[in-house]
Amino acid sequence: MADRSDAIVFFGATGDLAYKKIFPSLQSMVKHDELNVPVIGVAKAGWNLDQLKDRAKASLTEYGGGVDPAAFEKLGSLLRYVDGDYRDPTTFERIKTELGSAKHPLYYLAIPPSLFAEVAKGLHSSSCTKGARIVVEKPFGRDLASSRELDNTLHEFFPESSIFRIDHYLGKEPVQNILYSRFSNMLFEPIWNRNYIGSVQITMAEKFGVQGRGKLYEEVGAIRDVVQNHMLQLVALLAMEAPAGQSGEALRDERGKLLRLVRALTPADVVRGQFKGYRDEEGVAKNSTVETFAAVRLWIDSWRWSGVPFYIRVGKSLPVTCTEVLVSLKQPPQKIFNEPVGKQPNYVRFRLSGEVVVAIGIRSKKPGEGMIGDDVELVAQHYPHTELEPYERLLMEAARGESAYFGRQDGVEEAWRIVDPVLGDVTPVYEYDPGTWGPAEASTLIPNDAGWHTPCSDAVVKK
Ligand code: BG6
Repeated sequence: MADRSDAIVFFGATGDLAYKKIFPSLQSMVKHDELNVPVIGVAKAGWNLDQLKDRAKASLTEYGGGVDPAAFEKLGSLLRYVDGDYRDPTTFERIKTELGSAKHPLYYLAIPPSLFAEVAKGLHSSSCTKGARIVVEKPFGRDLASSRELDNTLHEFFPESSIFRIDHYLGKEPVQNILYSRFSNMLFEPIWNRNYIGSVQITMAEKFGVQGRGKLYEEVGAIRDVVQNHMLQLVALLAMEAPAGQSGEALRDERGKLLRLVRALTPADVVRGQFKGYRDEEGVAKNSTVETFAAVRLWIDSWRWSGVPFYIRVGKSLPVTCTEVLVSLKQPPQKIFNEPVGKQPNYVRFRLSGEVVVAIGIRSKKPGEGMIGDDVELVAQHYPHTELEPYERLLMEAARGESAYFGRQDGVEEAWRIVDPVLGDVTPVYEYDPGTWGPAEASTLIPNDAGWHTPCSDAVVKK
């Protein structure tokens, strides 16, 4: 078993990610008795420790379900603060002093990727990299070339086994449940292939727009923001082969292998959209062609999936906030009963937000004389309050050196290879009205008789 990290250092301590995700995760880890090591925040804000504690309190009030007095007291006793510039060697000397005798510090880079190299170099020059782990946030580059560059930089100072690339979708309870459901039941495997499955759809709908992140969003757009990472990781979990055991490397091997088999996208596989009003957001160019919506058709060139389209639809300012997967089976080969065939083929549905749902759609006979049926669903439902938040789960796993739910360089590069040909303005961007399902052009990707699935149409979902 790997050694547990004996200190956590998070860079960007006064930033947005720390505020929204890291402090809530730290308090929660204390509550679960998973945090007993020094936690050193680093930033250049001219602050002191008390100011950082105030920031932590505000973060917990807004995003952490409130300040838990006992847990916060403990967190406060573990918290340290180093204020300094990442280009200044003395910043790293002070970090080293705070680390004391720690042998396996975990460095969390909650900072823009343009600063990764500086920080990695600073840690190396002050002899702080030996035995350490480093956690980096997406985006891992802007395309295949820059992602390789970023990796080369990190690899100068850290071996691949010490690099933990966060894709928070992999830390989500319902996402891990896809893997669990597929490989702990016999029900799915016999039908999980091109002989029975007609198509797979994933919709990641967000009712909100860019929430003041216009400037940042201009740098990415929907394909870089969520398709290259969250959506392709879902495709990997849905389509991969059974791993050789549950070790981190076995899981990463299979996810990577699956992504290697996904054909690179061509312009004909992509429809991009932009919601009306996006260009009026602060930080957005008046003539921006950045997409806030993307519909994508993927093909997996494998024995199992040949000829089965995987459709992905993501977007901001859509009618609901909901992520859902629909695995549709083919229709039966012959029509035995004299009734209009149910429009809906059999399916398996995984809801990944709002309530956690796994459902199986079948035809069932209506009581009475005729052989007439209804579309019915068998639903297994879990509730979100049992969920371990993804960031808490991933931080705990990184601190234990467990890599299963983090990206590995090969998988990340394959994901860039897939989207690279359609990044930027290779395809037109169509306008759509906020609160609709994106531009009408998206329907051209999917045959008429199938059509896009409306996720969460039956649910109480997050507003
Ligand atoms: C982030 C994207 O990675 O995921 C955001 O940058 C998106 O644009 C978010 O809103 C969605 O995450 P979740 O967990 O709310 O589905």
